[in-house]
Amino acid sequence: MSNSGNSNSVYGGDEINAIVLDPGSFRTRIGYAGDDFPKIITPSYYTESVDKKRRFDDAIDYPKANQQVKPILKDSVITDWDAALEQYQYYFDDILKIDYQEQPLLITEPVWNDMEYRQNLVETFYEKFDFPALYLAKSPTCVSFQQGRPNCIVVDIGHDSVSVVPVVDGMCLLKNAVRTHYGGHYLDDQIEDMLKVKGIQYEGKYKIKSKVPMVYPDSNYTLKDVEVTQSFDEYQRRKVLHEFKETLLQVPEKKLNVNNPQQNNALKEFYSQDTYKRLFELPTGQSIELSNERFKLADSLFDPLNYKFSTEELNKKYPSDNGELSIKGPYDDYRPLKRARKPESTPTPAPTEDSSRARGLSQLITHVISSVDIDLRTSVAHNIIVTGGVSLIPQLTERLYTELSNSNPGLKIRLHAIGNTNERLNQTWIGGSVLASLGTFHQMWVSKEEYKEVGPDRILTQRFR
Ligand SMILES: Nc1ncnc2c1ncn2[C@@H]1O[C@H](COP(=O)(O)OP(=O)(O)OP(=O)(O)O)[C@@H](O)[C@H]1O
Ligand SMILES: [Mg+2]
Repeated sequence: MSNSGNSNSVYGGDEINAIVLDPGSFRTRIGYAGDDFPKIITPSYYTESVDKKRRFDDAIDYPKANQQVKPILKDSVITDWDAALEQYQYYFDDILKIDYQEQPLLITEPVWNDMEYRQNLVETFYEKFDFPALYLAKSPTCVSFQQGRPNCIVVDIGHDSVSVVPVVDGMCLLKNAVRTHYGGHYLDDQIEDMLKVKGIQYEGKYKIKSKVPMVYPDSNYTLKDVEVTQSFDEYQRRKVLHEFKETLLQVPEKKLNVNNPQQNNALKEFYSQDTYKRLFELPTGQSIELSNERFKLADSLFDPLNYKFSTEELNKKYPSDNGELSIKGPYDDYRPLKRARKPESTPTPAPTEDSSRARGLSQLITHVISSVDIDLRTSVAHNIIVTGGVSLIPQLTERLYTELSNSNPGLKIRLHAIGNTNERLNQTWIGGSVLASLGTFHQMWVSKEEYKEVGPDRILTQRFR
């Protein structure tokens, strides 16, 4: 990484005890650089009472009248600033009791943050908190550091988004990056829709007073008489969907062609065999049995356009998307030094009639491999890092490997996915922790004075890139 500014000796040496903040759409992680895991892993949601008092801790799961549950981020971007800042302050001051004077802050950010947002983010943090210095680190860069792979492609299958970003010498190639919305939230919607179509009713756990295990549709349970808001109820019902997704889904070995009735029936029969059956216990104690659905739902990540929802409203929520990102602004996209800059590396093609199909996971990655400079392809194809909560679905990496090897016959594909679940779920934060504790990192911090002196344009495009 380059450094165009002055290093500040105050934060020099190995004495730095930086804080790392990784705000995700699903969970926010906060902790100390150099640690193996974040101290805080908390939902990126909060509760708000009638008198506008917000809470960020376990209170989110206690049923209470007139208490709303609201999200803080969307697509890894802060949408509710007041709540976000209050949440960070709560964890910085009340829980971690950090000593601002001693601790600079590294914040992870997705590659699609625009300049205005980044400027606002940095300035708000300088104003609101007393950190001596800040650094904005791109999430894929963090993941690349966590793995010690400076040249790689980071495939992050998160909650709101799925992104595929090539990284070279630790820098993200923004113009080659793609992102779709076929991630965890999309699967939740698919599951909810499937349950609705099957006529399966379910309740949030908070509502259950007593239950006796039964096979659906038989039931023997009683409900508590609690008064809650609709947003609280929806949040709790979503938790049932999360559990379903996290325990039942499995990626089929091959693409399921759900539009070919004959093949569809054969596959349905195949995946309905006893070995594929699993029971899922709803909070009411009723168990439902699923087999081929477990595979179809997971297959949708690879072939989203083949999986229509039952309502137009939901179909509209996920319009056909090829992953193009319009990253504008004065970004100085990184090129490896030894190569003269070519006229333009293959830009992401604008969707035409034919390519207006939504790209599934493997297609997105193949597209990114073919869009990077030819000299880099071998190296990045050899270092594909698969991360994000949804990548934990069993057999996902196996299927990716098969499809990528088939569609890139000239390249040796290698996937790297951490086996430890907790490490995979917190990989971006862990990478930020590694990055901020590097001995050489002290030159990277930017103090408020330096920011003011050098100006947002240069700091944001040259230092935080
Ligand atoms: N074992 C699992 N199997 C399938 N999905 C899982 C598993 N564990 C977590 N998830 C899902 O992964 C998603 C969260 O992923 P992750 O923690 O990477 O997101 P995030 O970093 O908070 O958000 P984002 O990066 O999209 O802003 C949720 O939808 C969660 O239900
Ligand atoms: Mg994430």
